[in-house]
Amino acid sequence: MTLATEINDNGNGNGNGGSPEKLLAPVLTAFWDQPESWTLETYRRHEGYEGLRKALAMAPDDLIAYVKDSGLRGRGGAGFPTGMKWQFIPQGDGKPHYLVVNADESEPGTCKDIPLLFANPHSLIEGIVIACYAIRSSHAFIYLRGEVVPVLRRLHEAVREAYEAGYLGTNILGSGLDLELTVHAGAGAYICGEETALLDSLEGRRGQPRLRPPFPAVAGLYACPTVVNNVESIASVPAILNRGKDWFKSMGSEKSPGFTLYSLSGHVAGPGQYEAPLGITLRQLLDMSGGMRPGHRLKFWTPGGSSTPMFTDDHLDVPLDYEGVGAAGSMLGTKALQCFDETTCVVRAVTRWTEFYAHESCGKCTPCREGTYWLVQLLRDIEAGKGQMSDLDKLNDIADNINGKSFCALGDGAASPIFSSLKYFREEYEQHITGKGCPFDPARSTVWADDKNAHQGVNA
Ligand SMILES: Cc1cc2nc3c(=O)[nH]c(=O)nc-3n(C[C@H](O)[C@H](O)[C@H](O)COP(=O)(O)O)c2cc1C
Ligand code: SF4
Repeated sequence: MTLATEINDNGNGNGNGGSPEKLLAPVLTAFWDQPESWTLETYRRHEGYEGLRKALAMAPDDLIAYVKDSGLRGRGGAGFPTGMKWQFIPQGDGKPHYLVVNADESEPGTCKDIPLLFANPHSLIEGIVIACYAIRSSHAFIYLRGEVVPVLRRLHEAVREAYEAGYLGTNILGSGLDLELTVHAGAGAYICGEETALLDSLEGRRGQPRLRPPFPAVAGLYACPTVVNNVESIASVPAILNRGKDWFKSMGSEKSPGFTLYSLSGHVAGPGQYEAPLGITLRQLLDMSGGMRPGHRLKFWTPGGSSTPMFTDDHLDVPLDYEGVGAAGSMLGTKALQCFDETTCVVRAVTRWTEFYAHESCGKCTPCREGTYWLVQLLRDIEAGKGQMSDLDKLNDIADNINGKSFCALGDGAASPIFSSLKYFREEYEQHITGKGCPFDPARSTVWADDKNAHQGVNA
């Protein structure tokens, strides 16, 4: 993986001039390339736990207001304002309050929280202590995707270090705050990333979404007020406290302030995590990371994982913030920039994604359970050259019956690649039907011959 760690001249990562690397704003990634970046000692050398000291000097309500004023928005996909979510927790209700960190990270293409936890777990732990102080919680949980055993081990070790140093446990830094932190390894289901399914799973039940209301802020874990936040959302909080909300707001845009992790993957020369102010474009990220793989050009990409409508090379200059991506017809999601070049069959890619959604559908509601199954049957036929033209409208109809009519957002996510691929690449679907097979099949393709003449760089 490539890790870019430069910052622009004015120190806020928001400059437009100079070399492309200067558009980056490394905060969470600032010292990932240093030896043993994951230890408490390294973290402390880089302002570690300074944000916590400042937070503990504030009253909890002022702290919530501060995070709200910073404009931080949830990095788990929906972009909900983090401070506002904390404010929803009722105070003086006499019930325990919980913070649950969502580290399930299973969306195809999404790969930021796991590297963050592997390289810099203390940023999350510090953020957890700050958040728990704000919402008056004395027990927090991290729900981690269980397959990532090396990350699980590293997280356990970081938690142990934090207890030993007095950042967790009783009377934290002499503040009177007591906090227990439990790391829970999930069994590896995409639906357990949905916050209410996650809570059911954490309680020991089968992970399926809950009916809302009540929302987790009122009745979440063990029916008590609960905040569920993404890893990156919580890990971003210490830097906001330490360097100030104005510093944070000096990056990005008014409605989408701050820095964030963009995960570049696929047919690119320099895959990896690029931490930059919100609003950077894919063209800028590709320019600084070496472009598409040599000799190839961008065909389509996702701005935020496979659940977000795909874009094409016409969207290279879309600002990658919540408003910019929304205005262009997609969603920022998890900022998982999966890039596919001209050798990729879009029907094949969409079929694989849809197989994933059908497999991961929890089965609770009919539109998603049945609809994703039928989408897969149709797509497999089309990919194999056994489709009919009427199948294209059928695909659209089925996706339409899932989208907005399912119990949770997994259904909407499954419909996204269908709608967007039909919008931008209907011709390619038709070629599979009229040509009775995939034009990208090397045995029959003209694409591969054309490919030899393709040029290097971003769609030049
Ligand atoms: C099917 C599905 C999977 C999800 N997976 C994750 C995930 O792995 N991590 C995550 O933070 N949010 C995930 N979410 C979003 C969560 O439900 C929730 O919005 C998020 O954890 C809130 O955190 P934030 O406000 O900090 O963004 C998923 C949602 C759905 C519908
Ligand atoms: S939309 Fe899919 S994953 Fe969500 S509840 Fe319905 S069946 Fe389960």
